[in-house]
Order: sequence, then C-alpha cells, then structure tokens
Amino acid sequence: MDVMKNKKRVLTGDRPTGLTLPIAAYVGTLKSRVDGQSSYDTFVFVADYHALTTHYEDSKHILTNTLGLVKTYLSIGLDPNTVTFYRQSRIPQTFRLNVILSMLTKMPELERQPMLKEKLALGHKLTFGLMGYPVLMASDILIMNSDLIPVAKDNEAHIEIAKDLARRFNSTYGKVFNIPEGIIGEVVIGLDGQGKSGKSTGGIYFTDDSDTVKRKIMGMYTDPNRIHSTDPGEVKGNPVFIYHEYFNDNVEEVKDLKDRYQKGKVGDIEVKEKLFIAIEKFLEPIREEREKIEKKGDDYIFDVLKTGEERAQKVAGEIEAKVMEVMGF
Ligand code: TRP
Repeated sequence: MDVMKNKKRVLTGDRPTGLTLPIAAYVGTLKSRVDGQSSYDTFVFVADYHALTTHYEDSKHILTNTLGLVKTYLSIGLDPNTVTFYRQSRIPQTFRLNVILSMLTKMPELERQPMLKEKLALGHKLTFGLMGYPVLMASDILIMNSDLIPVAKDNEAHIEIAKDLARRFNSTYGKVFNIPEGIIGEVVIGLDGQGKSGKSTGGIYFTDDSDTVKRKIMGMYTDPNRIHSTDPGEVKGNPVFIYHEYFNDNVEEVKDLKDRYQKGKVGDIEVKEKLFIAIEKFLEPIREEREKIEKKGDDYIFDVLKTGEERAQKVAGEIEAKVMEVMGF
C-alpha cells in the first residue's frame, strides 16, 4: 500500500438507487475510473446513505442495489486489487465531518444548487437530507483527502461546494484539507433524447440482455422532423448518433452513416442495427465478466468491500484526527 502514498487520490461514488448503472454512465465517469486506476490511488464507493436523500422509504433495496453496483464496477474492469471499494455507511468519520461542515454551510449556498431544483421537479420531497446532499458529498470527498473527483456535469456545482467548504474550514481552523479538483464528464442524454440517461429517464443498462438492448435501440428517438428515409436528416442532437459516437469504435462506419443520413440515403433501421452491433460488442466482455463474478457469489463481494472498508476507515481516521486537533476538541 505504501506505493499508493505518492499517487494522487481519485475518489468517486454512485448512489445505489438501481441494480446497476446505465451504459451512458460509462461515458460520464466510469471510463475515466477504469483508465486511471493504475495511475491513481482510486477510491470508488457506494453512496448508500445518499440514496436515502430521494428514496428514504426504499431502504430495504439498498443492500441488493449495492451488491449489484459493485458487480457492475468489477465487470467493467475495475480491479479490486488496485481500487479501494467501500460503502459510505461503513465510514462513520464521514458523518461526523458532515455535522461539522453543515455548521459552515450557508443555506443560500444549498438553495441555489441546480440539482436540487431538478430533484424537486421530479417530485422528490424537500427534506433536510436532500437539502444537505452537497454537504454530505463534500464530507465523502474531504474525509478521504481526495485530489480528483470524476463526476458527470450535473454534479459540477457540488464539487464547487466541496472546494468552498474545504477552503472555509482551512482558513477558519487550520489547514487540513486538500482542495479537490473535479474531472467533469458529459451527461449522456436518454434514449428518447430527453434528460439524463439514468434510472428516471430510462436507458440501456449493463445487465440488459441482447433482446432488451435490441428492443430499446429500435425504439430510440431519431430526428423527429425526418418522415421518410429519403429525407435529409439531422445528426446533431440525434440520440442514435450520439450513442454511435460513444459506443461504435468503427469510426469509418459512423462517418459513412452520418454522411448518408444527412443526404437521405440511409434508413433508421440500418443506423439502429449497426448501433446494436456496436453496443453488443461493447457489452459482451462485460457480460462475460459479470457471469464470472456472479459465480463467485455475494461473499466475494463482501470480501472486496471488507478489504476496502478497512483501508478507507484508516484514511478517514487520520483525517478526522487532524480535524479534531485543529479545531481544539
Ligand atoms: N452525487 C453522486 C451522484 O450523482 C454520488 C456521490 C455522492 C459522489 N458522494 C460523492 C460522487 C462523492 C463523487 C464524490 O451519483
């Protein structure tokens, strides 16, 4: 573990609000985690208490979703021998820091977070917990003294709050925290061309089988103004082409499809069938890996978490000791 000492720490997490993640998350943050795992001391955690900010009644699903999420991490190629995996709920230092940071947070800072408005628009209740979402997120980040935080664009404002709180703490009590930097990824739109591809707007998921993937792709929205396949079509903002850009590694083919689409020389079916082939090629090795992991059973996942949690608690314990010291408790 000593070799990790010289490496920058990358930290990120996901809320376990579903059994897996949409493949669009690969573009937003997952790919950068996989690519960076050998160069950075990578912490990937399941933000299980954060799931309660919008789904507090659903606490019984959190464990199942957590196991599903960790299996997703492992199947996309995050290596448990390199990455520190843990559950947020197992790091008590996070929640003690959350109390301290909440004292330093001004209400207007929380009121103007864009994600809050989105969540309220989706019908979530304005609870104290939802309001405090960014403070808890700042606690996740700061208690591990993280350097780099890969998140999708919708979390950008939260990273700013984390930086502000780190600076405010340091200047009030004494320097403890690094000022973390966000690595902001794109938010990929849903299959209907609306919103973020997530649990709420639907998408293609890592655990979808071929038939499901096919059905979803065939139902994807294209250019709404194009009536006949001989009409010139728009590729910009067109969900099928956005997904081609991200998931089809055959650059020539994508270029050819775009050209012909713009000239009215290709039908939606061909464009979608080629997208299906590309996404299947992306998903196939992930499915194979997942099968191997499923065979090892849940005990294996708990072992991975246990190892990670021991390390994460140690890191958090050291930071907390400094916090208490500079504050004079
Ligand atoms: N807010 C993240 C999401 O939208 C989850 C999260 C919670 C997180 N705490 C974090 C991400 C700390 C990065 C760092 O799913």
